Amino acid sequence: MSTDLERIKRVRQSLPALEKITYFNTGSVGPLSSFAIDAMTKSQQEELYNSRITAEAFKNKKKIKDDTRESIAQLFSVTSSEISLTHNTTEGINIILSGIRWSQGDEVITSNVEHAAILLPLFVLRERYGVNIKTVNTGNHVIDDIKAKITPKTKIIAISHVSYATGEVLPIEEITELAHRNGVAILVDGAQSAGAIPVDLKRLNVDFYSVPGQKWLCGPEGTGALYVNNNKLIEVNQTYSGLGSVEEFDPLGTFKFYREAKHFEIASTFVPAVVGQRASIQWLIKEVGIEWVFERAKILRELAWKQLNSLSNVKVITPEKASGLISFSVNGVNPKDVVASLAAQGIIIRKINENNSVRASIGFFNSEDDIEMLIRSVSNLCSN
Ligand SMILES: Cc1ncc(COP(=O)(O)O)c(C=O)c1O
Repeated sequence: MSTDLERIKRVRQSLPALEKITYFNTGSVGPLSSFAIDAMTKSQQEELYNSRITAEAFKNKKKIKDDTRESIAQLFSVTSSEISLTHNTTEGINIILSGIRWSQGDEVITSNVEHAAILLPLFVLRERYGVNIKTVNTGNHVIDDIKAKITPKTKIIAISHVSYATGEVLPIEEITELAHRNGVAILVDGAQSAGAIPVDLKRLNVDFYSVPGQKWLCGPEGTGALYVNNNKLIEVNQTYSGLGSVEEFDPLGTFKFYREAKHFEIASTFVPAVVGQRASIQWLIKEVGIEWVFERAKILRELAWKQLNSLSNVKVITPEKASGLISFSVNGVNPKDVVASLAAQGIIIRKINENNSVRASIGFFNSEDDIEMLIRSVSNLCSN
């Protein structure tokens, strides 16, 4: 068994972007691993030299997608028939929200810390069908707030697992229990949880869960997945359909949709990206060790949180027990200037407009030295 230090060294060698910058922006996009790039390059070489359309290539594409759904299902403790491959988190959220049968006056509950990925599709529903959007405040009273806002007209709760703005982890299991007790469905935005914290979808018991490939799972952009609980499949209409959705079809009008989540995959796609998505997940599960990923991320996050919190001119917005995201502000320094000053030193964080803060994403691949650099640079800003 390798020591932590050896493991960290090996992990960082597989993420060469870390040599040039101190990387704290996985909440936007994670670093790509050489495993993913090697697999994608091989896939593209295969397409280049052996063509994309032989019978063999066709069979291979199907297998790649099947294997990728399988890997995603393994990561989230569900079955692969409940996974649909998507291109990003936002697509999965749109598939569900546009597939529900809405009537004027139906209600949706969401939270005050949501990303545009949930808010914009909800605004469309409000304009198109007259759906009412009710917003609850996250924090200690979130369950009571949801209880107070659920009515017989509530169709779905659409909410993040981890807030992109504050890093707080929402009590999804309890929210789901409350939703189901009232006959309400639940859709979760997993953009900041998938690969950042352990996610067991069977335990959470949610109906729909949408994730990206490019953030904490360190995969290529243009990849993602949507979990649809087998029992809920029939409650969601197809907004788009195509040959990818059906197991039988003839132009005279006979067709049969797959009775699996993959019926939301409608047509051809960029296969090397899917290959990279699977390679990243397999790298995390097999090579790095997924439990270690979560443990290591927690240790580093706690270290960064404590040290940032100890700086007298820093206000940490993120609660102590949260995910890999830490939002904070520096007294008297504009968030834009905090980001620019750190970037000039090769430290990459981002600004969060909603709460006038900056956000550092702490990943399993960061080192104690990275954290020290972050703290030293923020501390220097404070004393300037
Ligand atoms: C909570 C949340 N949801 C959705 C997104 C959008 O992700 P994607 O580009 O995969 O749709 C992000 C970040 O970009 C996010 O932080």
